[in-house]
Amino acid sequence: MTAAIIDGKKIAAEIRGEIGREVADRTARGLRPPGLAVVLAGENPASQFYVRSKTAACAEAGFHSEQYDRPADVTEDELLALVAALNADPAIDGILVQLPLPRHIDEERILLAIDPEKDIDGFHPVNVGNLSIGRTGFVPCTPLGVREMLAREGVSTRGKFAVVVGRSNIVGKPMAQLLMARGEGGDATVCVCHSATPDLAAVTKQADILVAAIGRAEAVTGDMIKPGAVVIDVGINRVDDPSREKGYRVCGDVHFESASRVASRITPVPGGVGPMTIAMLLRNTLESSRRRVGA
Ligand code: GUN
Repeated sequence: MTAAIIDGKKIAAEIRGEIGREVADRTARGLRPPGLAVVLAGENPASQFYVRSKTAACAEAGFHSEQYDRPADVTEDELLALVAALNADPAIDGILVQLPLPRHIDEERILLAIDPEKDIDGFHPVNVGNLSIGRTGFVPCTPLGVREMLAREGVSTRGKFAVVVGRSNIVGKPMAQLLMARGEGGDATVCVCHSATPDLAAVTKQADILVAAIGRAEAVTGDMIKPGAVVIDVGINRVDDPSREKGYRVCGDVHFESASRVASRITPVPGGVGPMTIAMLLRNTLESSRRRVGA
């Protein structure tokens, strides 16, 4: 079997187009554009890249966006004051504090300070709780993007055995919540594996839908996958490769070549889940603006 590629870049572009048209329509009706504030502390190159991609997507879709770059030695109090100002700013619908934060900052304290109604990342405990009990809130963008991707590809999750590898607050846990939720895009039987799972392959081999979010390059290989499974690769890893101009190559948590010989469908890296995350950030910010300004 050779897996069909799930083209996240194409699906995300469609969604960004839909959002851009809605924003144009809203502004033509005299409503203000959705506003996103992105806070970046320190000089992590991967974070800088992600934040640039996010602000460029905002501009393209007609959003108002503001970026706050702070040095690596920014204090917790300075970040808290910035978040408080953004909470109170009527032009801002969404606040995104890019993670990871510098080590001396208590990440939880900063995330707790964000108004849950502007928490378009869905990281605040209020939104984490809303997701777990099926209430409307904000859902983290990466798992939301995976769900949207599966829906647009016509992959039904109902009654399927879904295995999520990774238990992070950003991806693994909310992904499992979405897959097990009642209704469309959910209704799966879900198993979450992690670093203490003794025989990972024994579990992943049973998965109809396998979501890899471990953060280890090419850790999921073809022999760990059930023939015909749908494989979603959330990982973005840099691996040294002197033959490349940049000295590295980018790969996922799935060994693409061996996996695509077994799976029925698979997401590539890059061009799979990554662009979907950004599209969902725009969707959450637009939704926040609808709730604040009106439909
Ligand atoms: N770091 C990695 N992924 C994310 C994300 O989705 N949101 C934020 N704020 N930081 C991240």
